[in-house]
Amino acid sequence: MAEASYQVAHGGCVRGEVTVPGDKSVSHRSVLFGAIAEGTTEVDNFLESEDCLATLNAMRAMGVNVERPAAGRVIVDGVGLQGLRAPSAALDMGNAGTAMRLSMGLLAGQRFDATLVGDASLTRRPMERAATPLRQMGAVIQTTAGRPPVTVRGGAPLHGIDYALEVASAQVKSAVLIAGLYAQGETVVREPAVTRDHTERMLRAFGVEVQAANGRVSLRGGQTLRATHLRVPGDISSAAFFLVAGALAAEGPFLIRDVGVNPTRTGILEILRLMGADIRVLNLRLAGDEPVADLEVHKSELRGIDVPESLVPLAIDEFPVLFVAAACARGTTRVSGAAELRVKESDRIAVMAEGLQRLGVDAEPTPDGMRISGGPIGGGRIDSHGDHRIAMAFTVAALRASGDIRIDDVANVATSFPGFPAMARHAGIAIEEAR
Ligand code: S3P
Repeated sequence: MAEASYQVAHGGCVRGEVTVPGDKSVSHRSVLFGAIAEGTTEVDNFLESEDCLATLNAMRAMGVNVERPAAGRVIVDGVGLQGLRAPSAALDMGNAGTAMRLSMGLLAGQRFDATLVGDASLTRRPMERAATPLRQMGAVIQTTAGRPPVTVRGGAPLHGIDYALEVASAQVKSAVLIAGLYAQGETVVREPAVTRDHTERMLRAFGVEVQAANGRVSLRGGQTLRATHLRVPGDISSAAFFLVAGALAAEGPFLIRDVGVNPTRTGILEILRLMGADIRVLNLRLAGDEPVADLEVHKSELRGIDVPESLVPLAIDEFPVLFVAAACARGTTRVSGAAELRVKESDRIAVMAEGLQRLGVDAEPTPDGMRISGGPIGGGRIDSHGDHRIAMAFTVAALRASGDIRIDDVANVATSFPGFPAMARHAGIAIEEAR
């Protein structure tokens, strides 16, 4: 079978409004916490993407009844902290780093052994960053030269630790906190920079006492999670493609509705504003424990900036499309302190630099970021290296290109944003799916 590709005609504009699908990070956590809660958890606007379905299927494989009665609606019959059962086969996490690392924390507290596997991309990604603190808690974990497959042995008693994260990673923080639910005593995680706090917020929604202040998060082991009703906000990481599209090429105000604007995720708004984008946050409200707003973006003249390193973890998934914004800006943009981009679904520094250079952009990769001088963008053929966010970022680039852009290896867009081509078309981007 030929690989899926996008053919995107150059130029054009975006207009009207879109509503992006539910947040990936929140969706993963909703089924994982629902599974170990007491009672039935209802989730609305769950992201039915391959990544989140990997977590959902893993919970099913451990004996949890999960129903999907309607689009975006998920009902999880929680089995309580001790109610999971041994899966009969390895748990396949597909492309999803979040599913794998959070599950490592979950499995550390079980009485049974389990093995986690993933696709070719996930199998290249580092897992010791989660295994190391979990072992300090008493878990018995084997990685394969630091990567998946990962086997977690059951029955090891866990104790709380006070752990300072080596990298600013919400996935590692979450893995340790989830294991902390199963540990004797208090578990403390200290983060070197602010990372997304969906785990802390959602655990509180499930009735768990979590303390968080000044980069220190802690909880006591053995607390019961009580089932709840969750509504997943729209994913700001998916909205990011439309925010940049709007800043580059909106005709009139362009509206993205119901977007999660948790302050640990809004680095994209701050960076785009520093670049001169006109983005308005409208109708700010709370959806459960997460702030939500409508984002109105206007076409703006973007300028190059030095991206403040403090904003990097708050926009970590948005750099592919931010690099496209930088390529369209007047002047030079420099990103540093972003070495984590090299261990995402692809090496996003190398893959974005390669793609931008292919379109004639002056982009120079550095070990921990990129220097991009804005200027004209040509057409051409891009290899997304199977990375969803690279594929969507280059779709947006076509709005400013002088020729059409073909993007290869795009099937993984379904890991985070099923329906992206249709929504992009609805907004005005001339994208066709090809095989
Ligand atoms: C995520 C955390 C981030 C992010 C990923 C989702 C999460 O990863 O890149 O897409 O849901 O906790 P790291 O925590 O590894 O930086």
